[in-house]
Amino acid sequence: MTKNERIISGFSKLNRSQRIDLIGDRLGLDEASRLVLDNFLHQNPSTQALFEEFSENFLTNFFMPMGVVPNMVVNGKSYIVPMVIEESSVIAAAARAAKFWASLGGFRARVAGMVKKGQVHFTWSGKAEYLTKVFPVLKEKMLAATEELTSRMRQRNGGIIAVELVDKTEGLENYYQVDVSFETADAMGANFINSCLETMAAVLVDELNNPERKGEASVIMSILSNYTPDSLVECWVECDINELAPFSGKLKPEEFARKFEMAGSIAQLDVSRAVTHNKGIYNGVDAVVLATGNDWRAVEACGHAFAASNGNYRSLTFAQIDGNRFRYTLRLPLALGTVGGLTKTHPVSKLALELLENPNAETLMMIAAAAGLANNFAAVASLTTVGIQQGHMKMHLTNILNQLGANTEEKSACVQYFSDKNIAYAEVEKYLNQIRSANA
Ligand code: MEV
Repeated sequence: MTKNERIISGFSKLNRSQRIDLIGDRLGLDEASRLVLDNFLHQNPSTQALFEEFSENFLTNFFMPMGVVPNMVVNGKSYIVPMVIEESSVIAAAARAAKFWASLGGFRARVAGMVKKGQVHFTWSGKAEYLTKVFPVLKEKMLAATEELTSRMRQRNGGIIAVELVDKTEGLENYYQVDVSFETADAMGANFINSCLETMAAVLVDELNNPERKGEASVIMSILSNYTPDSLVECWVECDINELAPFSGKLKPEEFARKFEMAGSIAQLDVSRAVTHNKGIYNGVDAVVLATGNDWRAVEACGHAFAASNGNYRSLTFAQIDGNRFRYTLRLPLALGTVGGLTKTHPVSKLALELLENPNAETLMMIAAAAGLANNFAAVASLTTVGIQQGHMKMHLTNILNQLGANTEEKSACVQYFSDKNIAYAEVEKYLNQIRSANA
């Protein structure tokens, strides 16, 4: 095949069955694979059409399980929290931790801010002093140009809240930013922010390149920033140390609390552990973010940058022991929305928000943080007591059995047999073969 023959042109213009034929012919897909593509289409044509509109080059729907965590008490209110996640132990772990903390008053949470930012990145060949001098007038003109765009958002107490000129010429010749802060009420606000920025960029170029100009301005790009450290949520739990007994396994609660605290300190110190520790937090956070139709890539990218904001990547949680009290806190940036985007157009996201009793963005941020803290608490508690594999492999048993093609009877026989044993793939396979030969 020549280089040009390998390039597929006009793919997006093909209809779905033409796309499947093209791919099928090229890759030699058999009937069974083609059937998978058809089997996952939605039976309701209008729902199916909706899914096809979400993305380009559609082939089929990709299913993920959605489960719920009951008893997630946040600031005194009990939520049934929908989570979309494929890792079998995550919901079980969150549910166990949520129920435990519910019995102790639940999670406390507060939102420290909901400010988002965007930037017009531009170059200016003239003097920095000239920009500084004209910026106040320029700023008013840029703001005036966005009046129409921001009017509805202002009615919802959002809009543009600050506009600043930032001189970045030390890092890059002639490089400046217009740094804009926004509040977007209950919306994620990406389109709103980007539209405002592009409008401001056009004014900037027009104004700076005027006939009496003292240099040349050129816009490089205008885009929101997914780094939202000022959209910050803090979530914590606390109890007397002896109340930790249900999670302390064979350890005394005091010993467990010390080990837990030490595990937290390790995650503050060591990047290899910190990444895994934070991954455990995002098991919960992402599952809520995904269920509610929010952008989990933005949430993750921002959270990890925040975790590294002092120069070393560290854990997003910290444990404190003060006398007889144990307190565990999570601080993370979360820019979430409950209107716009996929939140209400995806039928299951809409339902997920209904299950949460249609929270505003601020409440959703606190619930997602609580899910993150619940998962992380459960993970670190297991790690510092019985180890992670016991719980993990129990849940993983079903996956192994599915991989081995076990039927319903075989599954229940295996679940019973392994209820008091260590689970490993080879052992499950061995036992399954035993049952099969006995029944042959
Ligand atoms: C697995 O998905 C998450 C954990 O590795 C998190 C952790 O180690 O803290 C169990």
